[in-house]
Amino acid sequence: MRFFIDTADLDQIKEAHDLGILDGVTTNPSLMAKSGITGAKNIEEHYKRIASIVEGDVSAEVIATDYKGIISEGEYLASLAPNIVVKVPMIKDGIKAISYFSQNGIKTNCTLVFSAGQAILAAKAGATYISPFVGRVDDINWDGIALIEEIAEIYAIQMYETEILAASIRSSRHIVQAAKAGADIATCPLSTIMGLFNHPLTDIGLEKFLADYNKGNS
Ligand code: G3P
Repeated sequence: MRFFIDTADLDQIKEAHDLGILDGVTTNPSLMAKSGITGAKNIEEHYKRIASIVEGDVSAEVIATDYKGIISEGEYLASLAPNIVVKVPMIKDGIKAISYFSQNGIKTNCTLVFSAGQAILAAKAGATYISPFVGRVDDINWDGIALIEEIAEIYAIQMYETEILAASIRSSRHIVQAAKAGADIATCPLSTIMGLFNHPLTDIGLEKFLADYNKGNS
C-alpha cells in the first residue's frame, strides 16, 4: 500500500517526503483554508509549490459543480504541473467529467465516495483513484473499513483499474486496517503516519541495546 499525505502544510509535506516513504499528496479546500491558503490565485500557486516537492501525484480539487465548469477548471489545474491529478466530487456532472478526463489522458481522483455503488460508477467512468472517506463513515456509526473491503472485493472481481485511495484516515490503526482491507493507497495526516512508529517494546529494546553496548565503553 502506498502513502499519500493529506495536508496543504508544506513543512509537513517536506517532513514526510524526507522520510522517503511519501508517494503523493491530497488536499481539499478545507485543508487549504486550514493552512491559511485562500483565493483562487493563491491556491493555484500553492498547488505548484506542492507539486514541485513530491514526484508522486498531487490531487487538486475543482470547485465547479457543473460539467463545463469542471472540465475547464480541471484542464487548467492539470496544466499547472505534470503530477497534478484532478479531484472531482462524486456527483452526476462529476462522473461525466471524469469520463471526459479519462478519454483525454487527464488523471482523476473521485472524492466524497461513501458507498460501493458510487465506487462502481467512478470506476466505470475511468477514474484513476476513488477516495472513500473512512473516518466520516465511522462518524455516522457505519463501518468505514468495511466499505474499503467491499469496494476492494468488487474491483478485484470486476478487474477495474481504478485505485482505492482510503481517505479521512483518523488513526494509525485505520492505516493498518485499510492495508488489510485492500486499499491501494492511504492518505493520512502526518501525525497519523508518525503514529506507526510507536511501540514501547521498540523503545525499551533500543535503550537496552545502547546501554549494553556502552558497558564496554565506560
Ligand atoms: O482526505 C479527506 C480528508 O481530508 C477528510 O478528512 O477527517 O475531515 O473526514 P476528515
